[in-house]
Amino acid sequence: MKNDTGKPEFWEAAFTEKQEMWGFEPSNSAVLTKDLFVEKAVKNMLIPGIGYGRNAQIFRDSGITVTGIEISKTAIEMAQKHYGTDMIIHHGSVTGMPFDNNSYNGIFCYALIHLLDSDERAKLIRDCYNQLTENGYMVFTAISREAHIYGTGEFISKDRYEMFGGVKMFFYDRKSIHTEFDQAGLFEITEVAENYPLFLIKCRKGNV
Ligand SMILES: C[S@@+](CC[C@H](N)C(=O)[O-])C[C@H]1O[C@@H](n2cnc3c(N)ncnc32)[C@H](O)[C@@H]1O
Repeated sequence: MKNDTGKPEFWEAAFTEKQEMWGFEPSNSAVLTKDLFVEKAVKNMLIPGIGYGRNAQIFRDSGITVTGIEISKTAIEMAQKHYGTDMIIHHGSVTGMPFDNNSYNGIFCYALIHLLDSDERAKLIRDCYNQLTENGYMVFTAISREAHIYGTGEFISKDRYEMFGGVKMFFYDRKSIHTEFDQAGLFEITEVAENYPLFLIKCRKGNV
């Protein structure tokens, strides 16, 4: 049976089966983003696709209030078990944003945007930008065309493939990053090694 990453079943099954599948250490991207957010005095932030929270704690340890959005109920329960129930995590798909009327000084979205189709990606960027305070920062990580899995699986559309039993992924290069993020205050693109090569995409509101 094929799943779609916009549906909860895929991630429910993944977290139920593999539990804390990425361990408890924050990603390299979260460490780099934490340094930026501390330097820019970010006080409250949103993490769409927060998973079970491994990338949240490093920000909370720096005194930043974190709110999450997560499609998997199981992942939310794991986050509450490990990191407490005082962190608000909205249950639902980012395609349903906004979940609250808050404005955030920072948004960190790790390895989620490339799971969406082009309309959903555009909406996520717009919705995140809309929830940023003036001069707020948003940082996305997204898989690169340099990843060895690029071009494997079933072709869906340019740079988008379905693999791993139902995950659809859009593989970015600098050109597609500019196309999608230039209107959202893009000011820096760097590369960061995680389990795959990712781009770290930094935007600032008021930078447009
Ligand atoms: C590749 S994982 C990254 C996980 C996490 N940020 C980490 O590394 O610890 C993508 C995460 O986004 C969640 N997710 C996938 N599609 C989503 C959607 N449409 N809305 C909200 N969350 C989603 C998944 O359940 C998963 O937790």
